Formats: sequence, structure tokens, C-alpha cells
Amino acid sequence: MTPSKRESKIHISHHAGEGGPFARLAEDVRKGLTKTPRELPPKYFYDARGAELFEQICELPEYYPTRTERALLEQIADDVVTSFRPTTLVEFGSGSSRKTRILLDAMTRARHLDLYVPIDVSEDMLRQTAYALGEDYAGLRVHGVIGDFEKPVELLPGGGCRLIVFLGGTIGNLTADDATRFLRNVARLLSPGDRFLLGTDLVKDVGLLERAYNDAAGVTAAFNRNILSVINRNLSANFDPNRFEHLAFYNREESRIEMHLVARESHQVSIDAIDLTVDFAKGESIRTEISCKYTRAMVEKMFAEAGLRLLRWDTDQDHLFALSLSDAVH
Ligand SMILES: C[S@@+](CC[C@H](N)C(=O)[O-])C[C@H]1O[C@@H](n2cnc3c(N)ncnc32)[C@H](O)[C@@H]1O
Repeated sequence: MTPSKRESKIHISHHAGEGGPFARLAEDVRKGLTKTPRELPPKYFYDARGAELFEQICELPEYYPTRTERALLEQIADDVVTSFRPTTLVEFGSGSSRKTRILLDAMTRARHLDLYVPIDVSEDMLRQTAYALGEDYAGLRVHGVIGDFEKPVELLPGGGCRLIVFLGGTIGNLTADDATRFLRNVARLLSPGDRFLLGTDLVKDVGLLERAYNDAAGVTAAFNRNILSVINRNLSANFDPNRFEHLAFYNREESRIEMHLVARESHQVSIDAIDLTVDFAKGESIRTEISCKYTRAMVEKMFAEAGLRLLRWDTDQDHLFALSLSDAVH
């Protein structure tokens, strides 16, 4: 394909009103590292290396969510697509869009595919993916949006009937209040006839859950520590990632996996760009991610609070992961 033809199919923009995905890094790092207990927002994992490490995690034998969700998508994609004939696919937290291809393929088979709108903070991954999809799907227009899915999206590009998706169990990274706020925004974006497909990881055996976040090859640990390199590079900090241990465990009361970085020894870290020094005591931790696990009742409750109506619920035979299709209660 000639460059001009290629360009005309692909459009990448920044979420309106945002100064780029890392615009609030300084503010978030100051806030997160000066509170007790300390925490960092998981969206900062995903620089180019973080996005690549996440891709590796998806292929790990211990990480059941990706392959389970992929198999579910393969089972239901044609059914879902033919039931309401969407022309536009909008995806929050799209990453490499690898599983999304199953939906794009189903839309191609149904001869309705027109526009794909991936929305992600990970700029390199978004650009790379947008161009790859433009090459692989003849006639597909891609409008990538670099931005934070927690900020309300006012107007999504694309007319026609839309399927909005949020896969990978990424909703689990949000607190209950933030998840409800996010879902309310989705409900607002849905016109009559549009649908929302959500992937959620389910409550299950604790051993299986904890192994998924503590893989033998140490890829999740490297992914966790990468957030410190992101801060070093963007805020002139001097974190030594090796002075922090990866810790991931299931918090039963909160129904979530928590990922932490625990100081192996007491030491001080300087973050020059925000003029902050942080004293870590030995054993002190920074919580870097939560990953909530749901039951069907929990998903239905969230939907009801957000103004969404569950239309279909699909899970694998071991009840590891679920896909929920919903529309908005208008
Ligand atoms: C757990 S990965 C899932 C990727 C893909 N959807 C999948 O199912 O494999 C989370 C994705 O969401 C993106 N992400 C995380 N927080 C975000 C935020 N607040 N706004 C936009 N994208 C975000 C990350 O860059 C990453 O691509």
C-alpha cells in the first residue's frame, strides 16, 4: 500500500484536553508516594517496555485469563456480531488488540466492519497496532485515541451501530467507585442499539489466582519493577528496582489480587523533577496494582448502578473468566 493510502485509513489523536498520557505523572507520583500506604496508578506500567512485558505475561502458562478470554471470544463473536450488526468497534485499554482481531474477523465475515477506535495510554503500542490492523484489514479505518480511559470521553468518532469493548479483565484495576464511574460513562456513550462487551476475571481458587501473578519465569516481577524505571526516566528519579521485591497476593476481603513492590532494605530515593525525597523502611511497600475478581452477582450489581442491562453472560466450563454483553437502560 502507498504511504498516502495508508495514512488516509489511519488517524491517531490525543484525548481532547489531555497533555499526553504521562501529563499527570508528576502529580500522581507525588500524591501516591506521600500517602500511607504508598501507591502508584497501574496505568504507568505501560511505557513501550511495560507494554511488551504485558504481551509476554499473556503467553505465560500460569496466566490463564488471556487464553480463556480468547477461547470465549472465539465461541461467541459471530453470534454477538450478527445479533445487532455493529459497524464500529470501540475498545478501551486496547493494548496489542490481539484478541480484538477475533471480533474484527467476525465483523468482516458479517460484512459490517467499517471503523475501529482503540483507546490506550500506551502510545507506541497504539500506533504500532493501528498501522498493523490497517494493513491486515482491507477497508478498515482506524482512529486511535491516546489517552486515559478514566477521563470521560465526550464523543467517540464513528457513526452507525457500535460495539464498545473492555477486555482483559482491566476493569479489575479500578476501585469499585472508579469502576462504577467508568461504567456510567460507557452507559452514557451507548446509543439505542449499541452494545458493551466486558471481560471480567472471576473469583476462584486462591492458588490458581496467586500463581497467575507470581510466574516462575519472573516476567510479572519485571513488569512490576518497570514502573520504577518509568518514574526514573520521566521524573529524573534514582529508584534502584533491584532494591524492591515483587509481592502479589490475594486479598480475600477485598476480592482482589494486590501487587506491591517491597523495599528489601531501608533507603532513600530522590525524585528530582518534583523535588521529592522518599524514605523507605525495610519491608515498606508501594501498592502498584489491584486486580479485582468478580462473581456474576457483583457484575450485575455494578451494571445496575451504572445504568447497564446484562443481555448475555458467557463463561468457560471452569468459571475462570466471563464475558458480559450489555446495553444501556435509556
Ligand atoms: C491489562 S492490559 C490489557 C490489554 C488488552 N486489552 C488485553 O486484553 O490483552 C491493560 C491495557 O490498558 C491500558 N491502560 C491501562 N490503564 C489505562 C488508562 N487509565 N487509560 C487508557 N489505557 C490504559 C494499558 O496500556 C494496556 O494496554
